[in-house]
Amino acid sequence: MNKRDFLDLSSLRVGELEALLRLADRLKIETKAGVEHPYLRGKTLAMIFQKPSLRTRITFETGMAQLGGHAIYLAPQDIGIGERESVKDVARNLSRWVDLIMIRTFSHSICVELAREANVPVINGLTDLLHPCQLLADLQTLRAHFDDLSRLKIAFVGDGFNLAQSWIEAAALARFELRIACPTGYEPDPGFVARLQQEKLGIITDDPFAAVKDADVIYTDTWTSMGQESEAGKRRRAFRNFQVNAALLQHAQPQALVMHCLPAHRGEEITDEVIDGPRSVVLEQAENRLHAQKAVMVWLSRPEVLQHHVGPSRQS
Ligand code: CP
Ligand code: NVA
Repeated sequence: MNKRDFLDLSSLRVGELEALLRLADRLKIETKAGVEHPYLRGKTLAMIFQKPSLRTRITFETGMAQLGGHAIYLAPQDIGIGERESVKDVARNLSRWVDLIMIRTFSHSICVELAREANVPVINGLTDLLHPCQLLADLQTLRAHFDDLSRLKIAFVGDGFNLAQSWIEAAALARFELRIACPTGYEPDPGFVARLQQEKLGIITDDPFAAVKDADVIYTDTWTSMGQESEAGKRRRAFRNFQVNAALLQHAQPQALVMHCLPAHRGEEITDEVIDGPRSVVLEQAENRLHAQKAVMVWLSRPEVLQHHVGPSRQS
């Protein structure tokens, strides 16, 4: 059987999203109850980081340890993928030693090339295009609060970058209504906008109040992503009316949840009051990175385990 990779949500086959989320929930509940899951005993994960990380690094490394395996952290200066050595050569060498590769990089094309050249599964730990591991954890978080994701109105307020684009992929799979509010010039890539519109997944607007009206969930992300630091001043000005604060929240459903992938720039895209407030589930999201990614690693290495979690969809 051909190996599978996890580079985006759109490549998931029917039933796989649901099965992954079920497996993630089971791993979460059982791990907290002290049950061990040595599904990956003797296996090694190489983690290539070309950008900084707290959550992604710790959750992959901890997840691998909990599954009985081992993880190796490769910092930006360690291997210089595409500079010191070609992506293809890195892929072919790593494939001789390790069982899984995770990469966090800038251009999504590096991630795609690595997956093409490697003989072992590759996981996207964030690119400038997408952040599918985050979305899996976010959907796991939402399922703990709502029975039926397809009935939700989700407002994404902020930059139309990797997180917003992953939300469009998630909406296409889980069929909730997605409203994206971003300043003109900061919309998602045209292909993602076209998908949102053609598949009638939701709207894009430059009015954050219109996006959050009666929303069940408000999501935001940093205005200045990793690699865009030189634009920080310009971005602060462009996004100043897109802060998730108490006034904006007033327009959402009274019980609306607030989500953020983190790291947060408090006082910019979100206020202390909101991120630390009763509607915020940001730490649940962060925790679920561990459980969701464990499910992904088990699936890619031991697909038969995921099969046990395939069943009738929770969504109609
Ligand atoms: N949300 C997220 O990916 O966090 P890190 O950048 O800390 O990994
Ligand atoms: N959009 C942010 C997400 C960080 C998890 C970035 O790319 O820096």
